[in-house]
Amino acid sequence: VRRIGVMTSGGDSPGMNAAIRAVVRTCAYYHTDCVGYYRGFQGMINGESVSLNARSVRNTINLGGTILQSARSKEFMTEEGRAKAAANLREADVDAMVLIGGDGTFRGGQVFSKEHNIPIIGVPGTIDNDINGTNFTIGYDTALNTVVEAIDKIRDTASSHNRLFFVEVMGRDAGFIALNTGIGAGAEEILIPEENLGLDRLLDSLERSRRAGKTSSIVVVSEGDKTGKNVFQLAEYVKENLPFYDARVTVLGHIQRGGRPSCFDRVLASRLSVRAVELLLDGKRGLMVGMINNDIESCNLDEALKGKHTINKDLLRISEILST
Ligand code: F6P
Repeated sequence: VRRIGVMTSGGDSPGMNAAIRAVVRTCAYYHTDCVGYYRGFQGMINGESVSLNARSVRNTINLGGTILQSARSKEFMTEEGRAKAAANLREADVDAMVLIGGDGTFRGGQVFSKEHNIPIIGVPGTIDNDINGTNFTIGYDTALNTVVEAIDKIRDTASSHNRLFFVEVMGRDAGFIALNTGIGAGAEEILIPEENLGLDRLLDSLERSRRAGKTSSIVVVSEGDKTGKNVFQLAEYVKENLPFYDARVTVLGHIQRGGRPSCFDRVLASRLSVRAVELLLDGKRGLMVGMINNDIESCNLDEALKGKHTINKDLLRISEILST
């Protein structure tokens, strides 16, 4: 392997720049060329690339977003799109790729790698933390801190006005953000996709908390929760059934994806990406790097894609105890 490509794909996450930087600097350290592709798979298809040296990534470790930009490429889902990308890589003498992204990125990468015999290594970057084979994904920690800070602010106004707030957080299919920020920000109830506790339980719990003397409350709702109602409908439903509540809704949305990466995410991104390049230089392929119990490990990409990194259901019990 003499020239390695790097790209970021799917939803961006804070710390992706620290990952790009580590890929570029590790290549430089081992006297290997490094090429960045813009907007993920789309840039590979369009041949939009930039040659990167150690100085190209100066002053980037602290930046949110991704300097290589990101996209969810529809064209890469077609055989023709992937063939164009492979031809571009061959023409540029790129021997292997480091793919920074989430499960969609890895799924696309696996098909591509097998079809065109191009080695890839995956680096997990998504705020959702929903990847098997790593305890943490890059960006998750920063997103947790962003959400907790936002809910702290909502708490101020909720308590001044004796209000009930429904706060929607990201996570289409995964409740990691909701569950952990719910505990970290002291929420009354947490609604996640993995466990539908039902609407009756929500009403019971809110009624109980009112009787226990609470004058304001926060319910954290994952965008993928399975109550069958969106966060606005949930607030209406509670108002109809518990009219004493003055309920409001805040959707945190994409602020969760931005901002300066936390130190944890910078270190995680750095450690994972150094290993990703070293694995490629060592002739390895088809792997994802991950952090397990504070060690950097790697697993087969197929393995990483097979199961979902499961939530710790004990956190629901902890939340129930602490919202007494
Ligand atoms: O996968 C990351 C994520 O932020 C999810 O939490 C969210 O459901 C989705 O991306 C939003 O995607 P988009 O930015 O394309 O609207």
